[in-house]
Amino acid sequence: MPPQVNCALPPGFELDQYRIHSQLSLGGFSIVYLAHDRDNTPVAIKEYLPNALALREEGHIQPKIPEEFLPAFRYGMKCFFEEGRTLAGLNHPNVVRVLNFFRANDTVYMVMRYERGRTLQDYITRRRGEIRESFIRYVFTRLLNGLREVHSHKLLHLDIKPSNIYLRNNGSPVLIDFGAARNTLMVDTPMLKPMYTPGFAAPEHYRNRDLLGPWSDIYSVGASMYACLSGGPPQAADLRMENDTVILASERWIGQYSKQLLETIDLCMQLNHLKRPQSVFALQRSLATWDRENEEAELTAAGSASTNASEHWLDRVRAQFSRFSTWMSK
Ligand SMILES: Nc1ncnc2c1ncn2[C@@H]1O[C@H](COP(=O)(O)OP(=O)(O)O)[C@@H](O)[C@H]1O
Ligand SMILES: [Mg+2]
Repeated sequence: MPPQVNCALPPGFELDQYRIHSQLSLGGFSIVYLAHDRDNTPVAIKEYLPNALALREEGHIQPKIPEEFLPAFRYGMKCFFEEGRTLAGLNHPNVVRVLNFFRANDTVYMVMRYERGRTLQDYITRRRGEIRESFIRYVFTRLLNGLREVHSHKLLHLDIKPSNIYLRNNGSPVLIDFGAARNTLMVDTPMLKPMYTPGFAAPEHYRNRDLLGPWSDIYSVGASMYACLSGGPPQAADLRMENDTVILASERWIGQYSKQLLETIDLCMQLNHLKRPQSVFALQRSLATWDRENEEAELTAAGSASTNASEHWLDRVRAQFSRFSTWMSK
């Protein structure tokens, strides 16, 4: 099938007990909508519609699925359902909340709590990296709480990246898009190759998927923090394995961020999975223990423009959030 773009359900469409308001995004695997339930509560609905297998044409509701793609389409649908079912068992403020799941229009739909905000990717793009340490710590310690919950249910996310980290208007993060989690099941289905995002996926995604584990999500967390500093994704792990050109965070931003944060990022981004923190808990411990007084004195001595030791760190977090809220409300 040639590359194609699927048409979204039209605004006003009655889908089960929901009414479609608008399309929020269109990905290669699904379409996300803003909709309202019977009480007029907003929800986000994700529609399973892989454009390699199914085509919804303008003016149609039912997608066309060529006979030969039906087995792959159904298999993907089953995995999408499994994803929803697993997520529905999770109830954590930093993990997207699944409210419902239903079949319609020859496909399946996952209903989620609608979160108001923007992705961390939007924020990084807007600021071209250079995100403050206090903000990075605030976002990632909370995100890791959510990830810990995910791992405790024996689930790996496998596609953590700034565009799958959603920031509510108050800055608290929500981990979204567990689509890749199902792909561990799909390696033998040629139509639906495992997806990974260059720059954020761990080396074991490319070569040895048997080695995938919590440390693989931890690599992606490290790469996402790296992107907060650099403004873009680091070199892809498969290329790094041939010729690693990633400059260590602890060298590149020395004097601008605490040594401890930079070393934590470098540790998470180790190519050898055994050298990374092995659990989210271990990583959280190193993010949570920030010897602010000492580090700030050091950074000031190093002439960092972004740090003022006399300014209380909490004031800086507040200032960062007020800038963040102003940007959000634009
Ligand atoms: N629960 C939600 N609340 C609000 N917006 C959401 C929600 N889930 C997804 N979105 C929006 O849809 C976009 C794509 O969602 P995502 O789950 O990452 O799907 P994709 O597979 O297309 O990447 C997100 O970047 C966000 O803008
Ligand atoms: Mg996504």
